[in-house]
Amino acid sequence: MMIGLFLFFLLMFPSPLISDTVSNARIFSSPLFPCSSCHGVMKPVFSRRKLSFHEDITLNHDNLWCLDCHNASNRDRLNKTGGKIITFNELQSLCGICHGVIYTEWTQGVHGKRTGYWNGEKHYLLCTDCHNPHSPRFNPLRPEPPPLRPEKTLRR
Ligand code: HEC
Ligand code: HEC
Ligand code: HEC
Ligand code: HEC
Repeated sequence: MMIGLFLFFLLMFPSPLISDTVSNARIFSSPLFPCSSCHGVMKPVFSRRKLSFHEDITLNHDNLWCLDCHNASNRDRLNKTGGKIITFNELQSLCGICHGVIYTEWTQGVHGKRTGYWNGEKHYLLCTDCHNPHSPRFNPLRPEPPPLRPEKTLRR
């Protein structure tokens, strides 16, 4: 009975990310990181404008602006979620504020990609391993042409 209850709670409320690994944010391999090397001495500008730097970034994420996600006073961090400023390795909880259902599915291995053991260590791909945070929508894939019939490919 007790074991049944325990299992029930375990299954109802799985506690994800215990002894689990999440891939590193790709930003750490960016030649611009640490961002504070420039931004540490720059004043943040909150207005939406055409930037004279980072022009390679196309922002196309609903109506969001840079500082909705990037922390204005510490550019090596993202904005607060759950009361604390987060590192780039915790970016999934920022995405989770607005994409709650998908976030929950991600922790359960339904959305995204999780490898490892069901009752042991698991490895999660970060949201940004697949989605560009600035322009997250996937372009529709163009279907490949159907394979040729053998009589067309066989040499006589
Ligand atoms: C939806 C949240 C979000 C918005 C809005 C956003 N960013 Fe980002 N940005 C991120 C996240 C998350 C990363 C880290 C991605 C990774 O490496 O995993 C990142 C990475 C970066 C990087 C380093 C990697 C690269 O692409 O060069 C720069 C620079 C950057 N952002 C600048 C900006 C600027 C400038 C804007 C506004 C024009 C902006 N971001 C808007 C979330 C956001
Ligand atoms: C070589 C210097 C340099 C580095 C390194 C750098 N930035 Fe910037 N960044 C700038 C400049 C300059 C601007 C302002 C451009 C403008 O106002 O037109 C800017 C603007 C921004 C903005 C727009 C908001 C604001 O404060 O003006 C964001 C967000 C941003 N950078 C994020 C990042 C992130 C994230 C990184 C690290 C991955 C990074 N930057 C690294 C030079 C830098
Ligand atoms: C402040 C709220 C907010 C944050 C934070 C945020 N998003 Fe979004 N995102 C939106 C809105 C609003 C849309 C457009 C409406 C929709 O399709 O859900 C959107 C659209 C998307 C889409 C495209 C959906 C489609 O229609 O194909 C993806 C993918 C996505 N976001 C991923 C992310 C990822 C990854 C992060 C974290 C780096 C993130 N979002 C952070 C609000 C947010
Ligand atoms: C292994 C790659 C992968 C990872 C990791 C991943 N996604 Fe996705 N995501 C996808 C694919 C593929 C789609 C479907 C795109 C489509 O159908 O157009 C998608 C769709 C979405 C959509 C649009 C869903 C809809 O119903 O329109 C949102 C929002 C989203 N992802 C957010 C996230 C967030 C937030 C995370 C991290 C917590 C994340 N994704 C992690 C691959 C991934």
